[in-house]
Amino acid sequence: MADRHEIFTALIDGAATAEEVAKSLELDAETLQRLLMLLCAAGLVERLPNGAYTVLGDIVPFVDRRSRKYLGGFVTHMVTSAAGRMPVLGDHLQHGKSAADPANADPFARIYADASSTKEFLSAMWALSADVSVELVDLAGLTGTRHLVDVGGASGAFAVAALQAVPGLRATVFDLPQVGPYLVETAERHGIADRLGFVAGDFLGDGELPAGDCLALGYVLSDWTDETCLHLLRKVHRACTPGGRVLILERLFEDDRTGPLGTAVMHLSMHVETLGGHRTAAEYLSLLDRAGFTNGRVRRSGQEKHLLIANKE
Ligand SMILES: C[S@@+](CC[C@H](N)C(=O)[O-])C[C@H]1O[C@@H](n2cnc3c(N)ncnc32)[C@H](O)[C@@H]1O
Repeated sequence: MADRHEIFTALIDGAATAEEVAKSLELDAETLQRLLMLLCAAGLVERLPNGAYTVLGDIVPFVDRRSRKYLGGFVTHMVTSAAGRMPVLGDHLQHGKSAADPANADPFARIYADASSTKEFLSAMWALSADVSVELVDLAGLTGTRHLVDVGGASGAFAVAALQAVPGLRATVFDLPQVGPYLVETAERHGIADRLGFVAGDFLGDGELPAGDCLALGYVLSDWTDETCLHLLRKVHRACTPGGRVLILERLFEDDRTGPLGTAVMHLSMHVETLGGHRTAAEYLSLLDRAGFTNGRVRRSGQEKHLLIANKE
């Protein structure tokens, strides 16, 4: 709520009392006062001796909409869309996924059903991927790559990090048509519209993907069953030029699937939101092998999204 009404942004721009913030944002002062008291007790906001509130320094990068580490979009997604799906978890437990939720054959039809849900989802994906993408691009070593195709690249978090790190690179995001305007806006905002393009399409259909010497799949395979992943990875293999590479960017379960906790949380949440879930590194390496790629290897980041790389001979 504090994020949605830009209360954190107002306090980052200058410490202020509840009355001052209420006036500038046209909010109810008493309700805002109570919300600020809660944020204070939760350790996100501090009350100064003069009665003004300010956001604690450690918290600022995660609540400032201008920061690459901003998490508001993802938290909003979890407390609205993901939590909104949780009531069906009981039915899943009692009757199984296919009986409990037969209408969810394509989760993205629901996610992109209207403009507000589309915007909320893409904002969550940006929040989840923008910061870690800088590290993943470094781990991928893209120097010398000519054309990166980011399959299901959403509004372009990974493509932007790649283009900012590698001057000669060109990138294309391939995604559903609803995503196009958001990618175009990203390209313009970052001044890279001459190097970042968008191709609309459906990777589940019969059509082929745009060709490139590096194709990336970030948080895409975890939405789908092994069968769909193989269909998609074989398409990626056909679109990849000989000598090129595929990058899989995903959370990874430990080998015995006992953690990490965040991955187990998302694995349960995705059971009611998508048709997929998270895998171990060995499971992804096996899918890559079955799709025809060679020399599969894992590069772990310092965060929760990791990288698997494989080659096309
Ligand atoms: C979980 S998001 C991942 C976004 C981004 N790659 C990242 O790592 O943050 C999955 C992406 O796959 C795209 N997608 C889903 N179904 C698709 C389809 N049938 N064809 C093309 N893209 C699809 C979605 O629009 C979305 O951008």
